[in-house]
Amino acid sequence: MRVSTFLISALAMGATAAPKYPEFDLKHMKEPGAAIETLSNYFNMIAYKAKAAKVIGRPPICDVSTAQMPSSPELLPPPSQGLKPHHIALGRGTQNYTCADSSDSTVPVAAGAVATLFNISCLASVSPDLVTTVANMAIHFSVDEVTHRPLGPTPWPVSGVHYFRAPGVAFFNLDEGSTADKYGEAPCMKNASAVAPAAAAVGPKGEKAVPWLKLNTIEGATQDIKEVYRIDTVGGSAPATCKGLSKTFTVEYAAVYWFWSGEIVEDDE
Ligand SMILES: *[C@@H]1O[C@H](CO)[C@@H](O)[C@H](O)[C@H]1NC(C)=O
Ligand SMILES: *[C@@H]1O[C@H](CO)[C@@H](O)[C@H](O)[C@H]1NC(C)=O
Ligand SMILES: *[C@@H]1O[C@H](CO)[C@@H](O)[C@H](O)[C@H]1NC(C)=O
Repeated sequence: MRVSTFLISALAMGATAAPKYPEFDLKHMKEPGAAIETLSNYFNMIAYKAKAAKVIGRPPICDVSTAQMPSSPELLPPPSQGLKPHHIALGRGTQNYTCADSSDSTVPVAAGAVATLFNISCLASVSPDLVTTVANMAIHFSVDEVTHRPLGPTPWPVSGVHYFRAPGVAFFNLDEGSTADKYGEAPCMKNASAVAPAAAAVGPKGEKAVPWLKLNTIEGATQDIKEVYRIDTVGGSAPATCKGLSKTFTVEYAAVYWFWSGEIVEDDE
């Protein structure tokens, strides 16, 4: 059964994980100590869960439609009525920026993003507390854009890719992952944005977290995907000015994306 297979591999970690070893980006890190602490907290939590699962004696149920998105009512509007979680993905990639010149009076301009998406739907439905720290863990592992190999020591399959189709049009392709499963396509535009919580983790070079977002899908979305949230962001923000920067540059980031699907129930009031 799929659920227990996932849990066993997730909980056993290294034992059944991919043959390639993770690339841990210590060399680029501003504060390796903090990164190691993050990772050690993360893996301690996994170990704790494994122990708890043994005590309970049965695998928890992994039903994505009942997963609880961390509530952020003060940050972003809630998902529309009638929608349910469809897929939850960890995104790991770069935010792109451009600079008209490299002076300290010029401000970097956002120019899209590219990320590999990993299927963490099951983890999110079973362990919501782990999901809030997963991006913080992921930022410390690099992703090979060509092979999309597993992220560090994690067992999550690739569910697809995220990039921009046109300025302002974020695109998520969840049909071409590492398994035969297809979770749909979602071209989106921004609906709401909120500054990441002050406690959000910074990127490897101290970069601040990019905002949390609510996106609405536009024409072309499949599998009834209607809304997409980018939350639990880590890193990705550009420096305040273009001083010393080249015309295009990228900043590492990680985030958790929640895809909501279904029929929106309109309020009759
Ligand atoms: C991948 O996502 C689907 C739903 O979007 C879910 O049913 C499945 O359990 C997920 N797989 C993992 C490994 O989380
Ligand atoms: C963003 O940067 C990456 C890496 O340099 C590049 O592959 C990608 O095409 C860029 N995307 C956009 C929208 O500029
Ligand atoms: C955001 O989405 C809501 C619900 O779909 C819609 O009513 C509102 O007009 C949207 N706002 C913007 C700025 O897109």
